[in-house]
Amino acid sequence: EKAEEESSDLDSSDDEMDDGGMGNRRVEATNVSESEEPASSCQEKEVEMKKEEKRETSEESGPAQASSKKPSEPAIFISVDRLPEMQEARLRLPVLAEEQVIMEAVRENSFVVLCGETGSGKTTQVPQFLYEAGYASGTGIIGVTEPRRVAAVSMSHRVAKEMNLVVSYQIRYEGNVTCDTKIKFMTDGVLLKEIQKDFLLQRYSVIIIDEAHERSVYTDILIGLLSRIVPLRNKKGLPMKLIVMSATLRVEDFTENRKLFPTPPPVIKVEARQFPVSVHFNKRTPLEDYTGEAEVHSVCRRLRRAFPFKRGNTASDSSDEMKKFKKAKHKRTVSLPRIDLDNYSALPVDEGDEDRLAGIDDEEGSDLELGDDAADTEEKADPSLPLYVLPLYSLLAPEQQAKVFRPPPHGARLCVVATNVAETSLTIPGIKYVVDCGRVKKRFYDRVTGVSSFKVSWTSQASANQRAGRAGRTEPGHCYRLYSSAVFGDFSLFSEAEITRRPVEDLVLQMKDLNIDKVVNFPFPTTPSAEALVAAEQLLVSLGALEEPVKEMERARLSCPISPLGRAMASFPVSPRYAKMLALGKQQDCLPYVIAVVAAMTVREIFEDLDRPAGSEDESSKLAQRRARLAQMRRLWAGQGASLLLGDLMVLLGAVGACEFAGCTLKFCEENGLRYKAMLEIRRLRGQLTNAVNSVCPEVGVFVDCKMAPPTESQVVCLRQIVLAGLGDHLARRVQQEELLDSKWRNGYKTPLLDEPVYIHPSSALFKTLPQFVVYQEVLETTKMYMRGVSAVEPEWVPQLLTQYCHFGSPLETPSPWLCSSTGRVKCHCTSTFFRCGWQLPAIEMD
Ligand code: CDP
Ligand code: MG
Repeated sequence: EKAEEESSDLDSSDDEMDDGGMGNRRVEATNVSESEEPASSCQEKEVEMKKEEKRETSEESGPAQASSKKPSEPAIFISVDRLPEMQEARLRLPVLAEEQVIMEAVRENSFVVLCGETGSGKTTQVPQFLYEAGYASGTGIIGVTEPRRVAAVSMSHRVAKEMNLVVSYQIRYEGNVTCDTKIKFMTDGVLLKEIQKDFLLQRYSVIIIDEAHERSVYTDILIGLLSRIVPLRNKKGLPMKLIVMSATLRVEDFTENRKLFPTPPPVIKVEARQFPVSVHFNKRTPLEDYTGEAEVHSVCRRLRRAFPFKRGNTASDSSDEMKKFKKAKHKRTVSLPRIDLDNYSALPVDEGDEDRLAGIDDEEGSDLELGDDAADTEEKADPSLPLYVLPLYSLLAPEQQAKVFRPPPHGARLCVVATNVAETSLTIPGIKYVVDCGRVKKRFYDRVTGVSSFKVSWTSQASANQRAGRAGRTEPGHCYRLYSSAVFGDFSLFSEAEITRRPVEDLVLQMKDLNIDKVVNFPFPTTPSAEALVAAEQLLVSLGALEEPVKEMERARLSCPISPLGRAMASFPVSPRYAKMLALGKQQDCLPYVIAVVAAMTVREIFEDLDRPAGSEDESSKLAQRRARLAQMRRLWAGQGASLLLGDLMVLLGAVGACEFAGCTLKFCEENGLRYKAMLEIRRLRGQLTNAVNSVCPEVGVFVDCKMAPPTESQVVCLRQIVLAGLGDHLARRVQQEELLDSKWRNGYKTPLLDEPVYIHPSSALFKTLPQFVVYQEVLETTKMYMRGVSAVEPEWVPQLLTQYCHFGSPLETPSPWLCSSTGRVKCHCTSTFFRCGWQLPAIEMD
């Protein structure tokens, strides 16, 4: 896998041709003679974009445009020195047969849609075609976006290996891009950030948006933006291409969307060589506990039927993995990782799809009915080979991920337990059997209340078929569906686009920062709901990121322009609420703390999951010990007095502080119930946020040392106010005795938007304190609606810091103070005059 290090010099002379015989590959470094224009400001760009929108119909994005191009440069061919075995492997890929067609289409059109079954070679080959055709030989490079980090990293390695040269990747925290980079894989979020810095993406000659069918939010936005950027580039004489690649799913969302592409772009279909896959449905009612032990047991049983597991196997491999594997087998258990089937995508906020280990006994249990074809499988299975089980999911350490692509230890068969990362993005070679639980775990948001919950639901028919298809890449295969055909019939045809399922305030802010004021008019492949857009705009106005609408009409048209504060906030790679905290963080030298808290809140779960079921008694007592230890540490980190009121955020700060003090070691994390990976991520994010803050306001000059002293009492007060300023719309008030309607409201909190009470979780630092007012990071619905990340608020701060949420009246008008009214505002027992001359000025300045 060292191929990427041995960079071979790129031979840009035109004498060698690849044996593909692509005699007609050429690049037009055409100067579409347009008068030179000065580098334009963002505002000008928007005007241009608007003008362009009108003109586009006539001059862009259709095959018609081809005739107006004049080839002016000689053809460029870049030869690639591939290893023979690599060359041989790629010649077998279906996409190779279409190389000429693809390259011709790319040459003649600015937009091309390429769709083909997963595994047909799109991701690995198309960048190579472009490279060989010289698209990276001028000043521009080839950019490929992936919705998932795993895919960006692993694909860059794969292409590097195939091409025998350096191919770079850039994901949120890491990358290996240099000034010599020619092909760059990145997550879609990374490219979106780049557009903010350089709207015309002048570094790139081609952008490939891969996995467009996944409909990740950033992918959708990128396609919308690029549909405008590419014509602008062409107009400026800096031609650029956009290739949208997708599995064969619902391409019409892109091609038939006139707002996006006035003339439909050509669609090239790659016919994949797919071997037949026999699909076996379960006869019985689907199992509810799909990740529980019962389910995994039955999967094991199924697999054992397909691959009978023989004891006393004499596999003779001395590798560490085989030794470990044999050890596990000796105990007659195979450790299957317990993983959430999480629809993870590379958004700035990481969803927790952490694994758990569940011991699986391969001995007992009742049989699960198999379809009629089970016998057919048994025939072919080699009974002497034990299973070598590997997990595959987004947050897995890269070296662990790479394992699935390597051959299993000698004498064992590979069994990969994967999230839907293996559904389309990654093709694991040689998979013959697929067991599909039919589920997908997704985060759902309530658009109005913002309450989120992880829900496991049935996947779509398209996804299920995609999963099945993975079994027939190299030879005929089998797919075992753990649900009945009747249930399958009830699945929706396609999965919903992510943009319709989640809050969009971060996207709206990013777009406003690109001077797209009327977000409703943006050419989204799927437009988010008006409700979601209004909620986003309102939140951003209340955070001060957008200018207050002068007239109601402006608000209604969702066209509030961005404020200077909003610009600063947009440059922080975190959601707007946290960005607001960073923007206010310089007071009383609080920035290092704000950065640490924001980083810890962004990384979803920093504490180890100690509530997992234990596999053995031994493990169970160990878990109990660790739970006790973590509880003790949480109390310690929460501190006393002033700091305790910062609540769960103080616990986060305390954990980060303590961990860094100990040098952020694996040992410290393990001893104290912290997730090591999360702590490393927080460290990186702190660095990244520090750089971002410094580049927005260099005068602050914050320097974050990994180690920091605990905040002083007055800093804690300031931190609480900064947190309130950011999370103001997440204010909750404890229900008072006289208001108790029924017992469910006991210890409950009332929020402006929810009718139901929300609660402080027993693990919260403030569970016993029950402050009168709190702000929370989010409400997550599990057994009850629990607030996560709770921090106490002094009542008198509310009218001062959250004026916009308050309704000021005289005590007579509002006899019951602090009542959350139905308008969602906090009624304050004070007059506006009182407010103005008001209470003690809080530590915070709101500029
Ligand atoms: O993008 P698409 O799904 O069309 O295919 P791809 O990801 O380009 O994969 C093409 C082929 O390369 C597949 O048959 C994979 O098995 C193989 N491949 C591999 O062997 N190792 C990798 N790390 C990536 C891909
Ligand atoms: Mg692909």
